[in-house]
Amino acid sequence: MCGIVGFVSSSTPETAGHSALDVVMAGLSRLEYRGYDSAGVALVPEDGPLVSAKKAGKLTNLTEELQANPLPEAMTGIGHTRWATHGRPNDENAHPHLADEGRLAIIHNGIIENFAALKADLLDAGVEFSSETDTEVAAHQLAKNYRAVGDLTEAMRLTARELEGAFTLLAVHQDLPGRVVAARRNSPLVIGLGEGENFLGSDVAAFIDYTRKAMEIGQDEIVTITADSVNIIDIDGTAVAGEPFEVDWDTAAAEKGGFDSFMDKEIHDQPQAIADTLLGRMDASGKLVLDEMNVDESVLKSIDKIVVVACGTAAYAGQVAKYAIEHWCRIPTEVELAHEFRYRDPVVNEKTLVVAVSQSGETMDTIMAVRHARQQGAKVIAICNTYGSTIPRESDAALYTHAGPEVAVASTKAFLSQIVACYLLGLYLAQLRGNKFSDEVQAILTELQAIPDKLAKVLENKQQVIDLAHSQQDTQSVLFLGRHVGYPVAMEGALKLKELAYIHAEGFAAGELKHGPIALIDDGQLVFIVVPTVRGRDSLHAKVISNIQEVRARGANTIVIAEEGDEAVREYASEVIYVPRTPTLLAPLLTTVPLQIFAMELATAKGLNVDQPRNLAKSVTVE
Ligand code: F6R
Repeated sequence: MCGIVGFVSSSTPETAGHSALDVVMAGLSRLEYRGYDSAGVALVPEDGPLVSAKKAGKLTNLTEELQANPLPEAMTGIGHTRWATHGRPNDENAHPHLADEGRLAIIHNGIIENFAALKADLLDAGVEFSSETDTEVAAHQLAKNYRAVGDLTEAMRLTARELEGAFTLLAVHQDLPGRVVAARRNSPLVIGLGEGENFLGSDVAAFIDYTRKAMEIGQDEIVTITADSVNIIDIDGTAVAGEPFEVDWDTAAAEKGGFDSFMDKEIHDQPQAIADTLLGRMDASGKLVLDEMNVDESVLKSIDKIVVVACGTAAYAGQVAKYAIEHWCRIPTEVELAHEFRYRDPVVNEKTLVVAVSQSGETMDTIMAVRHARQQGAKVIAICNTYGSTIPRESDAALYTHAGPEVAVASTKAFLSQIVACYLLGLYLAQLRGNKFSDEVQAILTELQAIPDKLAKVLENKQQVIDLAHSQQDTQSVLFLGRHVGYPVAMEGALKLKELAYIHAEGFAAGELKHGPIALIDDGQLVFIVVPTVRGRDSLHAKVISNIQEVRARGANTIVIAEEGDEAVREYASEVIYVPRTPTLLAPLLTTVPLQIFAMELATAKGLNVDQPRNLAKSVTVE
């Protein structure tokens, strides 16, 4: 979960308007969300020794170091922003790591699982190490192979064969100004194609300021970029043609757009994210068209079970999907945390559809679950926000959310877009199977189109939630209750508060209250209750009203989220946050938003950094 940038240009800084250091530092600042415990760069000037600088802490520490001790100008460079896996986040363990007497520099994202055995051999051969990282092992192994074969690309290929685990590696060598060599296994890497200059990045945000032309790199491939060429080979040395694509994110989308934080911006992006996720997925007659998924209709018609695998917030999106898909399609649907699914013996076969939900497409637990499912014959559909990432690449089909880049570490707009994509999948399956709910399916599709406007209304009314959050900044514990689709919303509300405000928070199914959690209720305990729509299923609304009364009677401070017009809840609520009316199954798209704002504002009131909460990284690329 580190961020990686590489750059080569044939121009001079004067003619290009930027040097390698400018490009690499700009890329790192866009990738800092991928890891922010240390950062470093290496440059290869045309006629001088390889130079490098690295510093523990955020990128600003490296910037200050470079101001204090400037590096010579160069048009070849690599840069890294780290989230520690092996070795503490300090200057020594920061990347790049040097080998070949400081002539070779390497940066790495991932974990090299056989580093101990390789290190033992290198130590026996007299190599000295200056860090605790697995990356430095890769650096010395690459240097050893380079000395043996005299070709950096071939040396990288041999090294990739020797390494086990997950890695994106980028290397430069003092002998070879104008060249960056990279290898990729189970870790992301994209090429940016410029005019007389080329780029490498963990994702397109790394080079979006300079080019929108990009190319994917496959699993176990080695790429060599110079200013004018891109050469890709596979692990056996066979030439591979990369797949070019055009980046449709604009630069502004990767910036805060005037908001105080990326999280604030991304919460406000949600109406657009949902509109974009719905865009182009219906024909003129209102029928869903998901040809992009490219799965044989007969396969989708034959499935008899769905298993959603995901982690964290994405798994809560899956839980919302379960209620919707089972109702619309009558297909048994399970939701399982990817890391649990992968290590048990789940009953899946050719008739099982596994839906892997992931914003980043690089969550290692989910990747492993996808592989586990496919090994057993299941068809896998990825619901993902990141083009060219591993999960869609390794799945049978992909349905992309179009939320745009999500930079804040804690997920907001990706969550709502994941729910929408899950709905689209469920509605599509219902449509294909021509089931008896077809009128309801059509009505839901129409209602979905209205969600962006309703969401905009929720955002317009945010001041009430902001005031509430600021009044609660000394709260030590918050509980969240919900039933039916309100239950995953309650858990997501609790997760957001834990992540952003470092407050103890729990989400419960409201029906579970009497089975234990009610013991937590004491005078003044803050409890959010997500109330189902009045027209909800059976007597669910009345049941939740009873739950509010139960906690109120024990002294709880009850904050109720309910639909407009629901006057019945007023009597039992310390405060009601109203959201526009929508069908029960779509309600999470609205009721989640006040909880996101509450968590963000409370964290802000406590002076915390909501974009980069402590101990977390945006994309969890290790198990
Ligand atoms: C919480 C959060 C995480 C992610 C989880 C899965 O705010 O962001 O729980 O949802 O790590 O990440 P993706 O969706 O990238 O697989």
